Amino acid sequence: MNNKIQELIDNGILTLGKGVIIEEMVLVANREETNEGELRQISIGDHTIVRAGAIIYEGVTIGSDCRIGHGCILRTNASLGNNVVLSHHVIVEHDSKLGNWVRVSPHTHITSCMTVEDRAFLGAGVITVNDKFLTWKRNDREPNLLPPYVEFGARVGSGTTLLSGVRIGKMAMVGSGSVVTKDVPPYTIAFGNPAKVQRELDEEHRTPNGYEEVLTEME
Ligand SMILES: CC(C)(COP(=O)(O)OP(=O)(O)OC[C@H]1O[C@@H](n2cnc3c(N)ncnc32)[C@H](O)[C@@H]1OP(=O)(O)O)[C@@H](O)C(=O)NCCC(=O)NCCS
Repeated sequence: MNNKIQELIDNGILTLGKGVIIEEMVLVANREETNEGELRQISIGDHTIVRAGAIIYEGVTIGSDCRIGHGCILRTNASLGNNVVLSHHVIVEHDSKLGNWVRVSPHTHITSCMTVEDRAFLGAGVITVNDKFLTWKRNDREPNLLPPYVEFGARVGSGTTLLSGVRIGKMAMVGSGSVVTKDVPPYTIAFGNPAKVQRELDEEHRTPNGYEEVLTEME
């Protein structure tokens, strides 16, 4: 545990559960230049491992039994449930919320204020977009930010782009390399550019990821 992390614990800013491992060169309680005042609380649940080189901003909550890979960046107020795996170099922007048993593969970008519900799986290099018209520093126009939304158990293939405001339905599967411009209905498979629904999801792919014995979320 480096001195800065110990200081955050001593000052009541950082709460660590039992058996948490924070490897070397992890930065905790980074701050956006727009934030002021007291540092926001950060908590990391039991048995979570944070790999070397991760950066965790103020206000972040990480549940128990999570794995945060090398070089991940969790921006202000990002929140992760339990049993979440972020592979290496995943970016979770501010105020995004990932549920329990969510898996994210390397180099995926989760845009701000996005929700990824329990047991969803985002492949590698998934890009999520929240600003349709790329508005930045304009006096005449505020950006109209609308993130995508990923429902329970949905799976998004590697290299896919989810455009602003699209909803990936419960247990749906999006093929790799897709550009999703419209909602994908629950229990369907969609792919292509633009992504089109190809068929209903077959029976063998209707079981959500995560261990069977803790499957409590299904109706
Ligand atoms: C979408 C997917 C589930 C479809 O699998 P499938 O139903 O077994 O499909 P098939 O491989 O039988 O292909 C059926 C047709 O769809 C096409 N196809 C399959 N996946 C495609 C994709 N992602 N984009 C465009 N076309 C695709 C195939 O070329 C084939 O076309 P054809 O009928 O003209 O020959 C799978 O191809 C896929 O993309 N999975 C995502 C995997 C991934 O990204 N994992 C992340 C790991 S970190």
